Amino acid sequence: MDTIAQQIKTAIRDIPDFPKPGIVFKDITPILKDPVLCQNIIESFALQLQGVRIDAIAGIESRGFLFGLQLAGKLGVPFIPVRKAGKLPYTVKQKVYELEYGAATIELHTDAFEPGQHILIHDDLLATGGTVTAASELITEMGGIVAGFTFVVGLGFLKGKEKITPLAERVIVLAN
Ligand code: PRP
Ligand code: ADE
Repeated sequence: MDTIAQQIKTAIRDIPDFPKPGIVFKDITPILKDPVLCQNIIESFALQLQGVRIDAIAGIESRGFLFGLQLAGKLGVPFIPVRKAGKLPYTVKQKVYELEYGAATIELHTDAFEPGQHILIHDDLLATGGTVTAASELITEMGGIVAGFTFVVGLGFLKGKEKITPLAERVIVLAN
């Protein structure tokens, strides 16, 4: 039986020059076609998070919703959507950040969690770490404690893990 990292790496499809020339896009949609692999991903996160205080999971739009909500269900904690600008209907707090291929803004509802709560940040993929750094700053400014980060896959050559390691006690990347 392949390890979870091998199963993920085998499933992911590289798409050259998407969405811009020079970017090799990691397409995770083949993972979603495999319900056993999806289940294994959730189980693997849950196992590695045993004993960690997590009051809620913040998932980053849009691909961070795919496993973030499932993991919240598995752990029995609330799910918080971190959305791109202009999508959340209630009052928001926002952060502008840089991506591997452009700039973006993320927002959180001001009542997403209570001050002092421990929030796990989840996304599908860690590239430069810019997105989750912005999410971490937003959560910290709102009085939350970042419990850690989880990713299905990481692009090691972009050094995102090094960037975010100082921001929380744990960074879990299932496949590099
Ligand atoms: C991708 C990915 C992460 C982010 C990683 O999202 O899902 O959120 O980029 O990059 P970083 O580590 O350099 O910040 P994208 O903005 O492409 O949006 P999507 O999930 O809606 O496709
Ligand atoms: N997000 C940022 N960089 C990415 C990449 N190379 N593939 C998929 N998603 C990404």
